[in-house]
Amino acid sequence: MLKFKIMKGHFRVMLLLPFVPFLFMQGYSQTRGISKNKIIINADMGRNIISKDIYGQFAEDLGHCIYGGIWVGPDSPIPNTRGIRNDVLQALQALNIPVLRWPGGCFADTYHWKDGIGKPSKRPSIININWGGVTEDNSFGTHEFMDLCTQLGCDAYITGNLGSGTVREMAEWIEYLTSDAKSPMTELRKKNGREHPWKVKFWGLGNESWGCGGNMTPEYYADVMRRYATYCKNFGENKLVKIASGPSDEDYNWTETLMRNPKNRWMMQGLSLHYYTLMDDWGHKGSATDFGEKEWFKTLKATLKMNEIISRHSTIMDKYDPEKRIGLYVDEWGDWFNVEPGTNPGFLYQQNTLRDAVVAAINLNIFNNHCDRVKMANIAQMVNVLQAMILTKGDQMVRTPSYYVYKMYKVHQNATLLPLHITCENYSYGNEKVPSISASASMDSTGMIHISIVNLNPNKAVDVICEIRGLRISDVNGEILTSENINDFNHLGQEEKVLPRKFNEATLKEGVLHIMVPSKSVIMLQLKKRS
Ligand code: AHR
Repeated sequence: MLKFKIMKGHFRVMLLLPFVPFLFMQGYSQTRGISKNKIIINADMGRNIISKDIYGQFAEDLGHCIYGGIWVGPDSPIPNTRGIRNDVLQALQALNIPVLRWPGGCFADTYHWKDGIGKPSKRPSIININWGGVTEDNSFGTHEFMDLCTQLGCDAYITGNLGSGTVREMAEWIEYLTSDAKSPMTELRKKNGREHPWKVKFWGLGNESWGCGGNMTPEYYADVMRRYATYCKNFGENKLVKIASGPSDEDYNWTETLMRNPKNRWMMQGLSLHYYTLMDDWGHKGSATDFGEKEWFKTLKATLKMNEIISRHSTIMDKYDPEKRIGLYVDEWGDWFNVEPGTNPGFLYQQNTLRDAVVAAINLNIFNNHCDRVKMANIAQMVNVLQAMILTKGDQMVRTPSYYVYKMYKVHQNATLLPLHITCENYSYGNEKVPSISASASMDSTGMIHISIVNLNPNKAVDVICEIRGLRISDVNGEILTSENINDFNHLGQEEKVLPRKFNEATLKEGVLHIMVPSKSVIMLQLKKRS
């Protein structure tokens, strides 16, 4: 038996002999066999910039995202800077957040901004009709949001109320925020303690206008959108990027209707897209923590659909806007599971496991690879809601696995996308399969290359050969995010266990990168160009 095996091995070597010079040429001589998994990166063919805004966040006035999670008020015993809690702020600062969307979401089309300015004790309250029916005191309003953006060092993306607010209300909000001229609005701002106008970069023309934002048809919305957009003026140096409320999921008719009419195209610089990852459907969202491989697979399969959805909406946009003037703004996306048992169903508070980290990494790779059209993405939501970066309870705070993906991936912000081609084995579950590898690559302004790779397979490490064409590499370093179990998460009040660690399984041999990507992991490699 042994003899036969040796002979069989010998025979294989003989068969490979004619190819040996070729294998050496390709730098394959040192591999552990020829891998089925290969990534080819054309490092000299980068054309498009990965907008930093793809790494944006979304903070809605919902549950404990703002109240309790970010805003505790200046008199709170929780250490804060002008009412914004310091622990959360510090953690978020490490992500280099480029842009923050507020106040909603569905909340935006019920929000009347004048209720959120002036002395906090004098502000009228509001019933949050979409989220739990709770009464809020409006202590977090325009000034507090703009201060949060300043403290985070990010751009503001404000969604105006097009559903239940007036054109005048929206126009006056912009004037209050951004004008330097003498007017009742600017006088009011000054009276409320802000002398100079703020810079507001992004302006949303309603939210989900096909649903909670007014239940409109695309034709009707287009007319209303143009009317509101007409009065959203640029004051002084401030130039608004106006984003129309776009489709959800596979509603290609919405995109077609908005894009077809040149008058619509003229009024907007962006079209939003919402796609949430649901394990099954809205009736069967599943637990965020109590799941097995079946639910892991279904979630990853559902999240991969983002690629198809973006491609199809982009195809429609390309037809009417081939020069890609209008960006696709994926301003809501992420995992949506059942709320944690015992919490208010309207507060959308869910745990965040290694599965969420893998979902975040796959989607960020998709957005990077579509950066010619996708100009912004905002994960839902920043704190305590849906796929959050941070979870809090009283004065405690924990960073989620998704947080760490954002920390690892921030190197892609404003870098040049490097086109890549992946050939890989499938990860199968039952009769279904998905590719086991997701990846994207970029080169930053210093010439450093970053490659992010995800192994979707929870059972098997994947041996990947990565060929970098067009330049020579001298050095490789890496970080990995993984954990023992697919549903591991970081517990409040305990040492965090799902967090990035040094990754040593990437080696450079004769110009080719060999990477053993562990099961269920996200890795980020940093490669130095040879000078
Ligand atoms: O992110 C939660 C909600 O999901 C938003 O308010 C709404 O726009 C979407 O339906």
